[in-house]
Amino acid sequence: MKSLFVILLTGLMSLNVFAQETLHGSLEDLMKQMGDNFKAIGSTIDDPSKNQNNVLRAADLRSICIKSLPEVPHKISEMPAEKQPENLRTYQSLMAQLLLLSVDLEKSLQANDNVGAKAIVVKMAELRKAGHDLFK
Ligand code: HEM
Repeated sequence: MKSLFVILLTGLMSLNVFAQETLHGSLEDLMKQMGDNFKAIGSTIDDPSKNQNNVLRAADLRSICIKSLPEVPHKISEMPAEKQPENLRTYQSLMAQLLLLSVDLEKSLQANDNVGAKAIVVKMAELRKAGHDLFK
């Protein structure tokens, strides 16, 4: 009976570890995609001939934000349980702001407003700093 209990417990623990790794792996992957995408946008934001490509990249950024919203950063899942809800709200609020900016960016680029688009990219970099200072 005791060994059955140990086997069950070990099984549950390994399941939990697996779930956590899957979760972290996926936010890390999404962030890597976000990094590549944002770098490509940032390095061509002054070039109107790249606007159509960047419209597509802004749309990709929007999907990456949507996928990142329900994720739980590693740092938050390791916090004491009572601190997690407030921090999760902050994480989701920053990610939602990034999502809204990606929609604005798509619109500005579609309208060939490169000055406006550049200002949005600057705001996005500020959000990145805020998110990384708190949760990376
Ligand atoms: C333009 C905006 C952003 C870009 C380009 C960006 C890019 C990145 C990159 C390149 C990484 C490293 C991935 C790796 O491990 O190789 C990362 C990690 C991370 N970022 Fe962002 N990020 C942005 C915005 C944000 C925001 C707004 C938040 C939070 C609200 C955030 C939260 C995180 C977290 C929590 C990690 C660590 C992931 C983990 O747990 O492994 N990022 N990001």
